[in-house]
Amino acid sequence: MFGNKIKEETRIPRHIAIIMDGNGRWAKKRMMPRSYGHKQGMQRMVGLLERAYDLGVSFVTVYALSTENFNRPQAELEGLYNLIRNHFRAYMTRICSRGVTLRIVGDISPLPADVQQTLLDCERETAEYAKDGKELNFAIGYGARAEIVRAVNSAVEKGEKVTEESFSALLYTHGEPDPELLIRTGKEKRLSNFLLYQSAYAELYFSDKMFPEFSDKDLEKAIIWFSGRKRRFGKTDEQIKE
Ligand code: FPP
Repeated sequence: MFGNKIKEETRIPRHIAIIMDGNGRWAKKRMMPRSYGHKQGMQRMVGLLERAYDLGVSFVTVYALSTENFNRPQAELEGLYNLIRNHFRAYMTRICSRGVTLRIVGDISPLPADVQQTLLDCERETAEYAKDGKELNFAIGYGARAEIVRAVNSAVEKGEKVTEESFSALLYTHGEPDPELLIRTGKEKRLSNFLLYQSAYAELYFSDKMFPEFSDKDLEKAIIWFSGRKRRFGKTDEQIKE
């Protein structure tokens, strides 16, 4: 209905959020360990990020690990930590050299100390690439409820009443526009404690594809779908036309 190619008139979302689900099932179908799925998922994540920034998206938030994911078997977590130990720096350098600022979003204190260090080092080292206000939020140890509670406590400590704007400024995503398009792969249709405050008006796009097979073309399809949505923010069609 909207064609399948990004065109000049395609409205590119400023901020895309992605729930990268389905690595485990993708690997299982191929009789491979879950860690293989995560490895392929991480490579796919890098490819998608490059494509998104090249298309003109300014902000991307990827859900790499939730607070709930810390309950996964230790061996699986170690596999994810090893991906960070061995590949994160090179991948982030590749992405950030496109003028992107990396922001680690979440409570990383439960992670092994060396992994925490790698994440923070990468954040610091890639800061030199910052240009044009492009940002990547790498959500790890992230949970929206924990983020909201943290923000509430911070306001209480200051003894200040909050407004919607001042509250946004207490979230990890402070200073960034809200996600306009939220993509979830892996067939499930839920938000899983991801950006609950920020996604109030996000267009939700669910793909049946498992994350490692979600291609650049699939991302473009999601953006074209987004471009065809009428975003009313609670208003009527007539008000929007005005
Ligand atoms: C959900 O798929 C995915 C994750 C819990 C991790 C996503 C991680 C990456 C894409 C790699 C980059 C991130 C890090 C931390 C190195 P699942 O395993 O729940 O898949 P399933 O639902 O099929 O079991």
